[in-house]
Amino acid sequence: MIVTIDGIAASGKSSVSSGVARALGIPYLSSGLLYRAATLLGLDSGADLNDEAAVLAALHAHPVRLEPLAEGNRVWQGTRDLTDDLHSSTVDHGVSVVAVLPGVRAWVNDQLRQVPPPFVAEGRDMGTNVFPHAPAKFYLTASPRVRAQRRAKERPEDVDAIEAALIRRDELDHVQSAPAVDAHVIDTGPLDLEGVIGAILTGVAADR
Ligand code: DC
Repeated sequence: MIVTIDGIAASGKSSVSSGVARALGIPYLSSGLLYRAATLLGLDSGADLNDEAAVLAALHAHPVRLEPLAEGNRVWQGTRDLTDDLHSSTVDHGVSVVAVLPGVRAWVNDQLRQVPPPFVAEGRDMGTNVFPHAPAKFYLTASPRVRAQRRAKERPEDVDAIEAALIRRDELDHVQSAPAVDAHVIDTGPLDLEGVIGAILTGVAADR
């Protein structure tokens, strides 16, 4: 079984996917972490992030591996654990540039498709592009204001500034961010984490 959970930035996808995976007793795969790893390796190698050949050369020179733990994925490069470096503001800024490179998208998709099911796959295009035949697909959304208010609880930043940054990211992510036609779209605005996980588990049971 493959469950796909896609959605816009800061819609709570990672916490939700981890909770759903735990409830189902299967791993989850964070595709965003692989885009972040590609960005970090590109930056480390001194590549211009717009230069697809240079970013791909960095990826092939230093192969990385996604460890799909239910409590949170880790990304390894040999014995080096890259995970804690993948949410820096430099990677945050670079990842939108790297994620539009077709060769990088093919590399991420290839890594994901090598994992044997069952699993929960989380990202932007899991249900549309990477696993179009998944039997249970979900798409999480929430207004920019709601997402900014949630983020503001985690970091000491102004909610208006966070909201403006999220709207900018939505525009950058727009292409790979549409829901699959057969996805359950869940507005997470009125729900807490447990509520979203519960809605997905109900949907998974109905789709089986
Ligand atoms: O989910 P996240 O914030 O870790 O994702 C990081 C970036 O990767 C974000 O800019 C969107 C991009 N991404 C993507 O283009 N396709 C995916 N399947 C997952 C993430």
